[in-house]
Amino acid sequence: MGEKAIRVEKLKKYYGDLKAVDGIGFEVEQGTVFGMLGPNGAGKTTTIEMLVGLTERTDGSVEVLGLDPGKEQDKLKKRIGVRLQSPALFNHLTVRELMDLYAGFYENAFDTKEVIEMLGLSDKANVRIETLSGGQFHKLATALAIISNGELIFLDEPSTGLDPQSRREIRSAILKLKSMGKTIFLTTHNMDEAEALCDDLIIIDYGKIIAKGSPFDLIAQYFGGKIIELLVPDLEKKDYHGFEKLEGVSKVDYPKEGKNINIYTQDYAVTIIDLINYTREQGINIENLEFRRPTLDDLFIELTGREMKSEGF
Ligand SMILES: Nc1ncnc2c1ncn2[C@@H]1O[C@H](COP(=O)(O)OP(=O)(O)O)[C@@H](O)[C@H]1O
Ligand SMILES: [Mg+2]
Repeated sequence: MGEKAIRVEKLKKYYGDLKAVDGIGFEVEQGTVFGMLGPNGAGKTTTIEMLVGLTERTDGSVEVLGLDPGKEQDKLKKRIGVRLQSPALFNHLTVRELMDLYAGFYENAFDTKEVIEMLGLSDKANVRIETLSGGQFHKLATALAIISNGELIFLDEPSTGLDPQSRREIRSAILKLKSMGKTIFLTTHNMDEAEALCDDLIIIDYGKIIAKGSPFDLIAQYFGGKIIELLVPDLEKKDYHGFEKLEGVSKVDYPKEGKNINIYTQDYAVTIIDLINYTREQGINIENLEFRRPTLDDLFIELTGREMKSEGF
């Protein structure tokens, strides 16, 4: 620990007037899963492309495994695996053939069969890529990054568009790679996934970092206590003011316009008693009530006032 796999300072990529990446800085420890989170268009893919030497940076400094991806891409390429968001793959080959081809590019590549199994592609090993479903194609793209057996693996939205089973396969593959001592750089707009996998993360929005830290610390930093989430079918917005006045409550918001209300409380035992009395007095009908810990989704709303779409395209 302590060795940095990636160091980035004041990194920028401008496309004319468009500031795709606007002065970001962060470090990634070796052997960790690092997450870059942000909505569509935030600058995630552009950042990865600069980190692996596929896109020239406008400004700033980047060191990946001690190398400058702009100048030493050939050296770097041998030591990393990269899964781009929308890869172009040879459609006429079978899954196994393409994986063998990629394995040939690397000195210590994984065994093709092992990676095929890791990602649940065994029954598709001998079919042509053009016949794969969207989800299978995405998994293959991730398999091609993993097969490098690189020290550092970049995965650009590996779980977007996947079914739950495939997502679990990707998650367990990432954890397996981590247990082997590899560093994983992951982009996602799925906050649950980031919370489950990442040791450290940055949240970016419009090319800038808006939060940085471990999921646990970030949530603790922005929110003290717990959330009481209420489902109230026929509530008018004017009634929200009543909830704000309950004992222990620091904030009330309603992320999913309409029925759901999130009540942030520092002392939920006190708040819940007050809440029950209040709703009874007012004749407010509660359909469901849950206690929960704030999540990264709540944090994103807190920081930007918008909801992060957990599925994109
Ligand atoms: N080659 C390009 N030319 C012009 N604009 C681009 C190019 N690539 C990306 N962009 C723009 O840069 C911004 C960041 O894009 P991207 O890095 O793909 O975001 P993300 O991966 O977070 O969805 C977007 O506004 C996108 O339209
Ligand atoms: Mg992207």
